[in-house]
Amino acid sequence: MALPQTIEWRKNSLVLLDQRTLPEEVRFFFCTTADDVAQAIETMVVRGAPAIGIAAAYGMVLEAPRGKEAVRAASKRLARTRPTAVNLFWALERMEKVAEVSEPSRLFEELLREAREIFAEDLECCRSMGRWGASLLPPEGNVITHCNAGALATAGHGTALGVIRSAREEGKKIHVYADETRPVLQGARLTLWELQEDSVPVTLITDGMGAFLMARKKIAAVIVGADRITSRGDVANKIGTYSLALAARYHGVPFYVAAPRSTFDFSLTRGEDIPIEERSPEEVRSFRGTRFCREHSSVWNPAFDVTPPELVSAIITERGIARAPYEESLRVLLKDPR
Ligand code: MRU
Repeated sequence: MALPQTIEWRKNSLVLLDQRTLPEEVRFFFCTTADDVAQAIETMVVRGAPAIGIAAAYGMVLEAPRGKEAVRAASKRLARTRPTAVNLFWALERMEKVAEVSEPSRLFEELLREAREIFAEDLECCRSMGRWGASLLPPEGNVITHCNAGALATAGHGTALGVIRSAREEGKKIHVYADETRPVLQGARLTLWELQEDSVPVTLITDGMGAFLMARKKIAAVIVGADRITSRGDVANKIGTYSLALAARYHGVPFYVAAPRSTFDFSLTRGEDIPIEERSPEEVRSFRGTRFCREHSSVWNPAFDVTPPELVSAIITERGIARAPYEESLRVLLKDPR
């Protein structure tokens, strides 16, 4: 089966693949207002840094028939949904700039054109990252990934999973170990489904198994996506990424991050300054109605962690591969105008 489209603009509405019910049920979530899109982001109907940014851009288009004031309000509402993935703020800012300079009569078509461009650019970035990243992988080997950084998290192809897809398109025999990714299970529910649909060999492990897997099997690389990367290369990504990077360093396994320009926040240097979303304790206490501990048990539930640059072997971008020191390599690759 071909993967359904994660984000689709259809007949003046936004249709999102509802990622909450996967893999059991393929359902769609229809948005006709920016508030619908904001709720879809908050409840993780749509998730993954690039996908959140694209959906938010279309969310602003939905308010365009009501004028510039409504579009500005939509941007504010969408900005309050999830704080960590900088792609969201990057996309909103791009859309706001277009709205500011548009003739009121052309507001809708100008915003729609910009949202479509953000979508198309992301797909192009994923394909380009895929090609660069594939060059880092051996002709045959095992790769570990965490969370879901695939077609479901982007306009298509994926960031980390895009690298794996491209490597396989080049004939490399890559087998994937996917972390289940507690507590929302993006690895078990989404990455497995996505790779199985594409006939990529994949084996599920729990989050605590990565280090022992590296001790017992030959692992060619760990590849993950990112939600925000600072100018010196601190990487915010799904909680559990940092532990995987530590284990990879101990076992001499390369740790790669694949992320497009929209994921970089050059206004921040230090990882400590990245806002980390904390989600409901109920996500950790239970899953789909089954509780694992007493009802009011104390829980800490940060959705992301920050991996320091010293643990990152390379950052794969659409413009090439950055290596330490990142302050310098990222500036040359991404900051300078093209
Ligand atoms: O909470 P999520 O599912 O939105 O978190 C997603 C991740 O952490 C991904 O690894 C990241 O956004 C990169 S997706 C290309």
